Amino acid sequence: MASPTHQNGDVPTNNKKPKLSFITDSEIQEEFSHHDPSVARINNGSFGCCPSSVISSQHQWQLLNLRQPDHFYVNHLKKSILHSRTIIKNLVNAQHLDEISIVDNASTATTIVLQQTAWSFHEARFNKGDVVVVLHYAYGAVKKSIEAYVARAGGKVIEVPLPFPVKSNDEIVREFRSALERGRSGGKRIRLAVIDHVTSMPSVVIPVKELVKICREEGVDQVFVDAAHAIGCIDVDMQEIGADFYTSNLHKWLFCPPSIAFLYTRRSSSKGSDLHHPVVSHEYGNGLASESAWIGNRDYSAQLVVPAVLDFVNRFEGGIEGIKKRNHDAVVEMGEMLAAAWGTHLGSPPEMCASMVMVGLPACLGISSDSDAMKLRTHLRDDFGVEVPIYFRPPRDGEVGLVVTGYARISHQVYNRVDDYYKFRDAVNQLVSDGFTCALLSK
Ligand SMILES: Cc1ncc(COP(=O)(O)O)c(C=O)c1O
Repeated sequence: MASPTHQNGDVPTNNKKPKLSFITDSEIQEEFSHHDPSVARINNGSFGCCPSSVISSQHQWQLLNLRQPDHFYVNHLKKSILHSRTIIKNLVNAQHLDEISIVDNASTATTIVLQQTAWSFHEARFNKGDVVVVLHYAYGAVKKSIEAYVARAGGKVIEVPLPFPVKSNDEIVREFRSALERGRSGGKRIRLAVIDHVTSMPSVVIPVKELVKICREEGVDQVFVDAAHAIGCIDVDMQEIGADFYTSNLHKWLFCPPSIAFLYTRRSSSKGSDLHHPVVSHEYGNGLASESAWIGNRDYSAQLVVPAVLDFVNRFEGGIEGIKKRNHDAVVEMGEMLAAAWGTHLGSPPEMCASMVMVGLPACLGISSDSDAMKLRTHLRDDFGVEVPIYFRPPRDGEVGLVVTGYARISHQVYNRVDDYYKFRDAVNQLVSDGFTCALLSK
């Protein structure tokens, strides 16, 4: 295990021991024994998870700092962040180490990119009314960031409406192309496209490589991929995807504690050098990776456990690739089992999801607003011990009768067991047989 040997203040070592066998089921349960056993936790997507071996590594890093902070700062911190960046660079196939910065989370990465857009408006490199394109299903906080940094600076925001349920990538590509056309109407320039890799709600894998290519063909200045859910969940290859900026959290699907994300900034992107961390400290002007590695005195331990995470995932057959594949297969199987039990359907074909899948809920539950979806989620947590996000899809014009308006976003991670999904199935079946509808839940 890559953990700091802090007793004598030495550098944490990463001694490779020969692997005798893969992690066993009981060892997995032990690694996650801090999870509340009364809850079927089928929502890895929101907050991720962190095994106890990684928590213990983090704790040792914290002690190493607290034991002799000056020594830690001078001799360990920079070097260890560099080590984490090197591991991430290799995991995501970036070409150069200086393309990888470590930041707190996808929200921080988004701020870094959009702050640059705002300056381009303020410093008159962009004209008022120049366009930023974003998916309608972009994460709510990212849309707020666009409001704060783009709309306020004079940019026009064009949303790409996406169909849901979705049947094929072609539907997404078609909508994206027509949004670019709208963006360019009246001779406007599209300065930035913000594209999700895996949308949050409803969760769908977006064909980013294809959309980035379209942006290049259509003369979009820059492309930022918000891939908060990607690393550890889906293939992430910077050279293949070809975006200017790409961020992914490591605390969602790569077993890191909160909070850590990487922000990739393509070296050949002309504007890359003009990016700055919003928290300005001593490293200002020394490049984003250095700026991000010191944003004032704080706890950096989440950024230092990346080697311990690598050790953890390598205990599984196939390492992170094996975990990704098994999670995908299992979540699709569980999604199909639930849809069959409830007489509903999945929100996308299996190839358009990764480790999360949307499953239609029985129409008779009467989910008719975002508030109903939230109340049902709370009810499932409080009364049934099931943690799962619920999405409300408004009925389309012409849709009448009992249509599926609610979808559960189920996740699968290594700690999940089939009983977690049976518990959810049985909870919904009980609600249906009790004649429950969301209208019965108080405001
Ligand atoms: C698509 C997407 N973007 C951005 C974020 C923000 O991530 P964080 O809260 O870690 O900054 C999330 C969080 O769930 C997300 O799903």
